[in-house]
Amino acid sequence: MDTKVYRINERDEEKIKEAAEVIKQGGLVVFPTETVYGLGANALDEVACKKIFQAKGRPQDNPLIVHVASFDISKYVKYIPDKAKILMENFWPGPLTIIMPKSSLIPDVVTAGLDSVAIRMPENKLARKLIEFSGVPIAAPSANISGRPSPTSIEHCIEDLYGRVDMIIGGERCRVGLESTVVDATDEDIIILRPGFITKEDLEEVVGKVFVDPAIKSEDFKPKSPGMKYRHYAPKAPLKVIKGDTQKVVEYIKENVYNMKRQGKTVGVLIVDEIMDKIDADIKVSLGSIKDPGTIAANLFDKLREFDKTNVDLILSIGFKEDGLFSAIMNRLKKASGNNLIEI
Ligand code: TXA
Ligand code: MG
Repeated sequence: MDTKVYRINERDEEKIKEAAEVIKQGGLVVFPTETVYGLGANALDEVACKKIFQAKGRPQDNPLIVHVASFDISKYVKYIPDKAKILMENFWPGPLTIIMPKSSLIPDVVTAGLDSVAIRMPENKLARKLIEFSGVPIAAPSANISGRPSPTSIEHCIEDLYGRVDMIIGGERCRVGLESTVVDATDEDIIILRPGFITKEDLEEVVGKVFVDPAIKSEDFKPKSPGMKYRHYAPKAPLKVIKGDTQKVVEYIKENVYNMKRQGKTVGVLIVDEIMDKIDADIKVSLGSIKDPGTIAANLFDKLREFDKTNVDLILSIGFKEDGLFSAIMNRLKKASGNNLIEI
């Protein structure tokens, strides 16, 4: 397939209209959002949405998020639960996906046969213009080949999807860098199914007590969100995450780098600015300062992909205490490692 690539921003309305035309015609368009790039199709067009699954090799049982540009979502849901309304008013547009009871207008392929639908209004202006100009909601998963780290730059999208989609637009790096927080609002209690930039604490400020799907903490539970059961975000080399007191983590990494090197292996380390000078390794990558979780989140997927350009046999990554935004960061790191986590 011929893929058109337009490096544009939200002011380039002619090109955005051309992309909207592709959506209207049932094609696939990769576009930026503030979280990660999305692989979009007309959410009301079953045939178009099926192409999304093919293009990224996504399992059929993993439902898609429907992206909207207007608060009037009444056509797509059976009703808007009270707490969902409060969340929409407080966090839209922005990185929060809300699951609500679906209407019959949303095809089964989008929701993987579930009777609920995930809806989000992105903050990114280009994304919202694309939705507006298309005149339809846009179903979009992250624009990566299934299993790979989510794309936070147009280069990542080109790497994964060039030749598999009709158009790739954008250029800016994603501000947030982690996918949206996904909450289930179909019952009285709000439940976090996927942690993200909007934290539990942020949500509790507006709707009171919020619950977390136990599957996020422990592998013994079946996740409520089908997508959370798959290994995700994986770099090509095996990844091990080491969490604990910083001094001990540094010692562990140093010792393991030394042992691996003696076996003739190349080791990469994924660490933070504060310990860059303390560790010697073949490839050293910093996520940013430990004091700046926003930067660490924004860098994470890009840095994981960086190792794929090297010949490392193993990646050792620092782990973080799971609070605030670090909960989402650790969730992605654990998934990327296939739960290869050492706590010391
Ligand atoms: O930030 C984001 O959310 C990005 C951008 C492009 O908006 N999109 C994204 O989509 O991350 P995706 O497909 O990679 O992840 C969607 C997640 C999956 O874990 C999926 O299982 C879950 O949302 N999901 C979608 N609909 C659901 C539903 N009705 N019930 C439960 N989980 C649902
Ligand atoms: Mg994804």
